[in-house]
Amino acid sequence: MATSEPSTPSPAATRDQEANVRSQRRRWTRAVDRWDHHGVAGLEKIIAEVVAETTAVHPESVVDIGAGTGAITIPVALALPGAHVMAVDVSQAMIDRLAERAAAEGLTDLELLTAPAEKLEVERESVDVVVSNYALHHLLDADKERFVRQASKWLRPGGWLVIGDMMLGRGVDSEDRAIIAGKVALMLRRGPAGWWRILKNAYRLVTRTSERPISMQAWTTLLDRAGFVEVEARRVVNEAGLVKGRKPTAP
Ligand SMILES: C[S@@+](CC[C@H](N)C(=O)[O-])C[C@H]1O[C@@H](n2cnc3c(N)ncnc32)[C@H](O)[C@@H]1O
Repeated sequence: MATSEPSTPSPAATRDQEANVRSQRRRWTRAVDRWDHHGVAGLEKIIAEVVAETTAVHPESVVDIGAGTGAITIPVALALPGAHVMAVDVSQAMIDRLAERAAAEGLTDLELLTAPAEKLEVERESVDVVVSNYALHHLLDADKERFVRQASKWLRPGGWLVIGDMMLGRGVDSEDRAIIAGKVALMLRRGPAGWWRILKNAYRLVTRTSERPISMQAWTTLLDRAGFVEVEARRVVNEAGLVKGRKPTAP
C-alpha cells in the first residue's frame, strides 16, 4: 500500500488536538480511583492478551502509552526483570497512582512520564515494544495515524507495536452493529444503571467527543501504511480487539 507522511497539523487541527489533550487530562485525573479498581472481566481478558503479546518477544525495552495506573506496565515489568520499561500518561494523577502501585510491587526502576501521546518524543530505534491498551481511542483520528508512524520510528528494526483497544466503527457495517447490539444487550440486563450507560455511550460514540474508536480493519490499515509487516488483528471480547505489527528488520 502506498505510504504518505502524515501532514503536520494545521493551526486549527493543533487547536483541536490541544483541546482534546486538555479534556482527556481533566477526565482521567478525576477517574483515577474508579479506574484503579476496575476489574471488569472483559478488560482483564484484553489486558492479559496485551501483556502476553508484549512479553512473548522478550523485549529489553518497552514503552506503554496511556499507561493509566499500570494495568500493562506493572505485569510487563514484573515479567521482564532487567528490561527498561517506560510508562507514559497524559494525567499526572494516573502516573502518581502507577508509581504507588509499582513501589508496592518492588518495582523501583520504571521510567514514568507525564505527557500526551501526541507530543511524545522517544529516541529513534531505541524500543523493542511500543504497547498501548484502551488509550488510543481517545486520540483524534489524525493523531492515531501520526502516532503509528511515530511508534515505527521509535522501534528498533524487528520491534513490535501492540495495540489493545475498543475497536469498532460508527455502526455502518454488520460487525459494528453486532458489537453495539452485544453491548446494548449486556447493559439492558443491568437495569436502570445500564440504561443510563447506553445513553451515555451512544452520545459519546455518535458525537465522538471523548471516545473515538476505529475498527480493527482501520487499525490494520494504519499499521500497513506505516510500513509494519506481519500485521495481525483479532477480536478478544465483544468491543475490544488486539492489533500488532512488526517493524521490518531490513529497510
Ligand atoms: C481507559 S484508561 C487505560 C489505562 C491502562 N492502559 C489500562 O489498560 O488500564 C485510558 C488512559 O489513557 C490516558 N490518556 C488519554 N488520552 C491520552 C493522551 N492523549 N496521551 C496519553 N495518555 C492518554 C488516560 O489518562 C488514561 O490513563
